[in-house]
Amino acid sequence: MNFDAVAPIYQLMERVVFGHKLQLARCAHLPASLAVLAGGESAKILVIGDGDGRFAAQLAEEIVSRGIDEIVRVDVVELSQGMCAELRHRLASYPFCRVHCADVRDWRESDYQLVFCHFVLDLYRGSEFDQWIEILDHLVQSAGYLVVTDFENHPDGGIFATCLLRVMYQFFHYSAGIPVGQLEGRIASMDGLNAELVGEFSQLNGFVQSRLWRKI
Ligand SMILES: C[S@@+](CC[C@H](N)C(=O)[O-])C[C@H]1O[C@@H](n2cnc3c(N)ncnc32)[C@H](O)[C@@H]1O
Repeated sequence: MNFDAVAPIYQLMERVVFGHKLQLARCAHLPASLAVLAGGESAKILVIGDGDGRFAAQLAEEIVSRGIDEIVRVDVVELSQGMCAELRHRLASYPFCRVHCADVRDWRESDYQLVFCHFVLDLYRGSEFDQWIEILDHLVQSAGYLVVTDFENHPDGGIFATCLLRVMYQFFHYSAGIPVGQLEGRIASMDGLNAELVGEFSQLNGFVQSRLWRKI
């Protein structure tokens, strides 16, 4: 899997197809999730596969506006070199954000209070998805929060959403080498994750879902 070729046009493509709706979904749980850091002495936040960094930049802005940038560290772990270049450019003025060009499945640090994972898990199926559940369980500290945003084959999405999903995954199959195949619907329940669902945000008739999980 390699998103380098898509990196320079990723934002434009998204804007043309979805307008601002995906960014709204990514940021839906920002206020609630950042609120849990209030009053703490220090906090570690992880953003997984943030692509071109629009979410991480918004997160950084929120952290600054809440005046908690002195106590927070944000690790952004992204696989694609092209996306990392975009990320470094966007996050240059936020010294508390560090960009790491790496596969998060090899990431050794754990116990994050907050972990964000937007539009990444839908790229993984079968046993690879099982591995992600274990990894996420390890990355989020107990009583910490995980936000997962993804596309879903929702029954209310209709024929348009089903066709759009097919076209999108075919495009990313050829441009970035993601596996083809139906979505498995496992993101909705995150079975095996030691966490309870505490917040849900839905866009485009359920086609895009963002969920806030609290680790038990
Ligand atoms: C479909 S893009 C989504 C980008 C962004 N999160 C968003 O909300 O638009 C998936 C991104 O996840 C990254 N990615 C996929 N697997 C990863 C992994 N194992 N570790 C780190 N990044 C990963 C890809 O390089 C790509 O930039």
